[in-house]
Amino acid sequence: MRTTLARLIRTEFTANEFTANPLPSQRTMSSSLDAYWMPFTANRQFKKAPRLLARAEGMHYWTDDGRQILDGVAGLWCVNAGHARPKIVQAIQAQAAQMDYAPPFQMAHPQAFELADRLAKLAPPGLNRVFFTNSGSESVETALKIAIAYQRARGEGTRTRLIGRERGYHGVNFGGISVGGIVANRKAFGTLLAGVDHIRHTHDPARNAFSVGQPEHGADLADDLERLVALHDASTIAAVIVEPVAGSTGVLIPPQGYLQRLRDICDRHGILLIFDEVITGFGRTGQPFAAQTFGVTPDLITTAKGITNGAVPMGAVLVKQAIHDTFMNGPEHLIELFHGYTYSAHPLACAAGLGTLDTYADEGLLTQAGELQGYFAEAVHSLRGCAHVIDIRNIGLVGGIELAPRPGEPGKRAFDVFLDCYERGVLIRTTGDTIALSPPLIIERGQIDQIVDTLRGAINRVA
Ligand SMILES: Cc1ncc(COP(=O)(O)O)c(C=O)c1O
Repeated sequence: MRTTLARLIRTEFTANEFTANPLPSQRTMSSSLDAYWMPFTANRQFKKAPRLLARAEGMHYWTDDGRQILDGVAGLWCVNAGHARPKIVQAIQAQAAQMDYAPPFQMAHPQAFELADRLAKLAPPGLNRVFFTNSGSESVETALKIAIAYQRARGEGTRTRLIGRERGYHGVNFGGISVGGIVANRKAFGTLLAGVDHIRHTHDPARNAFSVGQPEHGADLADDLERLVALHDASTIAAVIVEPVAGSTGVLIPPQGYLQRLRDICDRHGILLIFDEVITGFGRTGQPFAAQTFGVTPDLITTAKGITNGAVPMGAVLVKQAIHDTFMNGPEHLIELFHGYTYSAHPLACAAGLGTLDTYADEGLLTQAGELQGYFAEAVHSLRGCAHVIDIRNIGLVGGIELAPRPGEPGKRAFDVFLDCYERGVLIRTTGDTIALSPPLIIERGQIDQIVDTLRGAINRVA
């Protein structure tokens, strides 16, 4: 294990070096693995048989023991342009040498403005003000705070309530888990934020199982917001936050007409609509943002992940200009919004972001999912009929394959499929008993086949 870890911290790897010195992929626990408390990980299981990645390029990872792994999940929904893209690597290297850090409070650096400007140009019309954060979770906290502060600034200070959706995932900070609706992420953490409520989720397998693209049934589920307006009164509600496509709960595609109906209800009641596009942003559904794919414009968009292709932590909130402008009054020397992070618009993140946007533009990647989605849909839906597959869902380059849980062991069947695929050289992701696919947008048809064929074998092998 020690040798392995020593190998990992070396910086000059070659693929040959790895394939020439394979080590067994099953390892025993070593004291050197103890200190790192891994996030969202079964730590004890992992440390008995670690899965260590050492290098990445294009569509692939290489493990520390030299095995090539096809990346079916863009790292964690973030490496949309594929790994180790030269423009991103070079931009980060050059920036690190030029200026490592610049304070973002009362100071700035040119790349921050350039990146904000370019993001505003990609965003849906009107969302042309950009607040930088360092993660999806921070983007969510920022958007929720802007929403409440905006209502106050426009004289609607009673609007403090936040509405999320059952099964929603909005990161792991207190605001995010409060508006989020995944019980495991909430139940251990006390009473959370006060003044939060949730509309119903949109998963309806009885009517929509195996829908290709947007399900037909369920626009009416948006009317659940009217129920909460009737219960709490619109004058207490600041904002509604939803993922246009819910990812972490197991890939739920919005029913046809659902998002538009939410928009209409929000407009009727003066409620801000926030789309959490941390996974759908940057080309995942065939347009730069899912708002554009579905033709529904929210008031704020939270982003992260694909903004820097995962290369440097960064997030951003895109805000309608009218909301931003509401804050821009009072004496000019005063701070308008008491919020921000030490690493907001970090120079390395901005450099990575600019290199990423260049790469997306050079290769047309922000619309590439639209080109591939027909092929991808056919491939993932070919898994219908495999053992235990009870639903398949897809949009753009996102696929969800839901398995029936093993009695008394929720999540275990899908996790066994994950392990089986990993041993056979394909990285997938599971949430509960749903397998989620979200490959880099540079994926080729043959690689889609490889992912789906490996999955087919794994699903059939895992009882
Ligand atoms: C929709 C959504 N919001 C927020 C987050 C949190 O992002 P982060 O892990 O960067 O804090 C995620 C992460 O997957 C996400 O999918």
